[in-house]
Amino acid sequence: MAHTILLLLLLFHQVREIKALQVIGGNTTVVQDGKAVLPCILIETQESLTQISWQRKTREKPRNNNFYTILPTTGPQFFNGEDKRFTFIGDFKGNNGTLLLSNVTLMDEGIYTCIFTLFPSGSHKTEIPLNVLVPPVTSLESNTPTVGDDEVSFATCTAAVSRPPAEVKWITGTLGEKVRVTTSPTQYANGTTTTVSSLVGVPTIEINNQSVPCVVTSAALSEEKTLPFTIQVHFPPVEVNIVKTSPNTFECEAKANPPANFTWRRSGESLSQSSVRVDGAKLHFLSWTPDLNGLYECEARNQHGKNNHKLYIEVVVVKGCCVAGWILFGLLLSLIVMWGFYKFYKSGLLQRMVESVRGHQSVPTSSNSPAHALGPVEVQD
Ligand SMILES: *[C@@H]1O[C@H](CO)[C@@H](O)[C@H](O)[C@H]1NC(C)=O
Ligand SMILES: *[C@@H]1O[C@H](CO)[C@@H](O)[C@H](O)[C@H]1NC(C)=O
Ligand SMILES: *[C@@H]1O[C@H](CO)[C@@H](O)[C@H](O)[C@H]1NC(C)=O
Ligand SMILES: *[C@@H]1O[C@H](CO)[C@@H](O)[C@H](O)[C@H]1NC(C)=O
Ligand SMILES: *[C@@H]1O[C@H](CO)[C@@H](O)[C@H](O)[C@H]1NC(C)=O
Ligand SMILES: *[C@@H]1O[C@H](CO)[C@@H](O)[C@H](O)[C@H]1NC(C)=O
Repeated sequence: MAHTILLLLLLFHQVREIKALQVIGGNTTVVQDGKAVLPCILIETQESLTQISWQRKTREKPRNNNFYTILPTTGPQFFNGEDKRFTFIGDFKGNNGTLLLSNVTLMDEGIYTCIFTLFPSGSHKTEIPLNVLVPPVTSLESNTPTVGDDEVSFATCTAAVSRPPAEVKWITGTLGEKVRVTTSPTQYANGTTTTVSSLVGVPTIEINNQSVPCVVTSAALSEEKTLPFTIQVHFPPVEVNIVKTSPNTFECEAKANPPANFTWRRSGESLSQSSVRVDGAKLHFLSWTPDLNGLYECEARNQHGKNNHKLYIEVVVVKGCCVAGWILFGLLLSLIVMWGFYKFYKSGLLQRMVESVRGHQSVPTSSNSPAHALGPVEVQD
């Protein structure tokens, strides 16, 4: 019996706890320039509400102060200056004191206190923390070093004045240990942090033109931000090469950054305007005469240096009358050879020769069929 009474008492107590008057707020986090809802409601009361008021203690106004009051008769009212960014979106009759703050700045961050004044019990309040996230201002600054042995900075990626601190990464891909990253954060009094990250390494030709984007992530950004970057290393022309691009054209190529300019020269003589034409990297031969014979040189040059490659031209004169004769002779010769080979094969001499060749081989295997035996003949030929 005593137990039952105790249980009932406990139950009654709990019900009273749940049924008790409460002011419910919330914890609001918003990105700067966005809209923040400062929720506040009063529940479980039959008493009459006389006013809802709001206090704030922010970065801008660190001392707790009354700034907004809602009365059933006159509606919302500001204290110490109007701030149109605040709107009452609750419902007085519904005991709902919710406020909306638009165009939020970091200065608005702080503690907001919502106070319900009831008759007869007096005031009941709760605190609503407002956290403001500041997205980073991102930028990338690049350098263009000249090929060398000393480590340099290729680029600097900055995520400025963000809250919380942003994470700055480089997607180095296959470069691996050829580059290094140094990152340094700087914190400011207003709670923001600037993160500066540098991509450093030895400027080599192989590292030139490698894509290494910078990626910035932050809780204040809805998605990560990618800043494209391609390593630029300046170097003089290397691997100068001459390729034949058509029967009468040679083209000069080189690896260089910035791209090389090409000059064609003929050793000992000037380029004859009537038989060759230079068009940038290309050298066109307009006619083929023995006076073109000689050494030609292509020079590749940029502001960091020069390099060259040579080409020897020898014009072989084939008398026009004989070309057809040579072709005919060649054709005839091949026919005779083919006919002779055929006869030779039919005579069986070939087979015998094959056998003898096989006989000299050291390890004939059992799987060797006569068809296989033809193999070595081709090798002999
Ligand atoms: C409110 O939320 C933020 C982030 O969601 C958290 O860092 C902070 O501690 C919370 N504050 C309170 C009082 O719960
Ligand atoms: C919020 O900012 C926008 C754009 O800057 C502006 O047009 C608007 O008037 C501002 N609203 C308030 C209530 O200050
Ligand atoms: C209070 O008002 C806000 C804004 O109008 C609304 O979103 C919320 O649902 C209301 N709360 C209650 C309990 O009615
Ligand atoms: C915070 O302080 C830094 C440095 O004084 C300033 O550059 C930045 O604009 C400030 N950020 C905000 C959101 O007020
Ligand atoms: C640099 O890389 C891009 C893309 O990988 C490629 O298209 C381009 O030809 C390269 N440039 C040089 C000079 O190697
Ligand atoms: C390459 O040629 C361009 C265009 O003719 C010229 O502007 C540039 O200065 C030249 N560069 C060098 C290194 O000669």
